Amino acid sequence: MGQKKNMPKDLAYTCTACGAAHAKWTGRCDACGAWNTLVEDKGLSHGPKKQGLGKARGTAITLTDLATQEAEPPRTLSGVNELDRVLGGGLTRASALLVGGDPGIGKSTLLLQAAARFARGGLKVIYVSGEESNAQVQMRARRLGLEKSPVQLASETNLRDILTTMDGLSPDLVVIDSIQTMWSDTVDSAPGSVSQVRACAHELTTFAKRNGISVIMVGHVTKEGAIAGPRVVEHMVDTVLYFEGERGHQFRILRSVKNRFGPADEIGVFEMTGRGLAEVKNPSALFLSERGDPAPGSVVFAGIEGTRPVLCEIQALVAPSPHSQPRRSVVGWDGGRLAMILAVLESRCDVPFTGLDVYLNVAGGLRITEPAADLAVAAALVSAREDAALPKESVVFGEISLSGALRPVIQTENRLKEAQKLGFTSAIMPRAPKGTQGAGLDLRETQDLAGFVEQVFGAR
Ligand code: TYD
Ligand code: MG
Repeated sequence: MGQKKNMPKDLAYTCTACGAAHAKWTGRCDACGAWNTLVEDKGLSHGPKKQGLGKARGTAITLTDLATQEAEPPRTLSGVNELDRVLGGGLTRASALLVGGDPGIGKSTLLLQAAARFARGGLKVIYVSGEESNAQVQMRARRLGLEKSPVQLASETNLRDILTTMDGLSPDLVVIDSIQTMWSDTVDSAPGSVSQVRACAHELTTFAKRNGISVIMVGHVTKEGAIAGPRVVEHMVDTVLYFEGERGHQFRILRSVKNRFGPADEIGVFEMTGRGLAEVKNPSALFLSERGDPAPGSVVFAGIEGTRPVLCEIQALVAPSPHSQPRRSVVGWDGGRLAMILAVLESRCDVPFTGLDVYLNVAGGLRITEPAADLAVAAALVSAREDAALPKESVVFGEISLSGALRPVIQTENRLKEAQKLGFTSAIMPRAPKGTQGAGLDLRETQDLAGFVEQVFGAR
């Protein structure tokens, strides 16, 4: 670290994983504990600090009280239900959005389709691509059947020129695809670097808010799952959406992880077709469409995604392990949580998994974060281990505590209603609060996991 001495004073370091700023370089970020994620960051070279304090005086800002009501910013619906719901009820004027996702997942497709919808609805829309030429975007538009929609297109990466254009045309919506390709001449580092991405996002956001424009920025996601470069962009914008899906599957999920104008954790489900993304009106039916007859290891979980119930299949496979350390592989759920469920099953219910490989999979490429999936996972694991299928047409949900007790979960009635709608006849679940409407389902309530194992799989 001999070079450290020669470093200019105003150099700072930003962690690309969590966005924390550091005065000195260290191998490990103090804030999030990640290794080798600190990168040099020059900051805004014309930031307020240099021109402000000391030299000229600032102007006093106008203060207001909490009671005075500002009018709610107007919203525009795209007409695509799945998108409007994730946005919290349409696109808010003068807002900044970030859409993150793996390369190739369909972000450009989604945003071109959304841009066309908003343009058709009367908004003045500009689509700026820093990644593709106009011809490439036009080709995609033709494939999507959108070549006639009144979206204005540009292939540009110079932020100053983009802002000047926005100033002249005063559009309602500008799509920037992607923030990593933009560069601001106020910062002397390469496009895609932390300071460039941050400066560009900051300038775009500020400009948008001042001028009543909505800006949607695309951000690529790094291998570690952060929006490439800095998470800092996430703090700047009003809404952060992630576009997710498995490459091999045609389902795509748009998930809001932060939304100043609506509920977070809302999802919209789309299907990638030969002619772009189609909205999926009934995700439960889609996620269950590949399910055959009830088989050991397969369980239907009645989940809640955002404000909406979604049923999906959880699959488990348990097999004798040839390794001294058995495998634990999980797709679509948290590996730590799986370890916990295995431990509870072993110590509270006498269902050991020693010497067995365990594979767990949420079908359809969905990623579940709800603790309510605990019981469904446990059911799938025991069912796979015992080679016994669960009762036909039953859904499962419930949280498991370390003591092996089952805890009730939120929105029980909504889960039951959705299950009933899709033709299920019974629900395996924790004790529901008195007065819970069962939606005509046969409710099999259990107080603890051991009781559940005995009730469903009998004495072993
Ligand atoms: P794209 O929107 O370019 O992804 P991103 O901007 O996230 O990198 O989408 C790329 C993939 O989508 C590509 O593999 C082709 C596929 N695709 C379709 O299947 N149907 C379509 O109508 C379009 C436009 C793309
Ligand atoms: Mg793209």
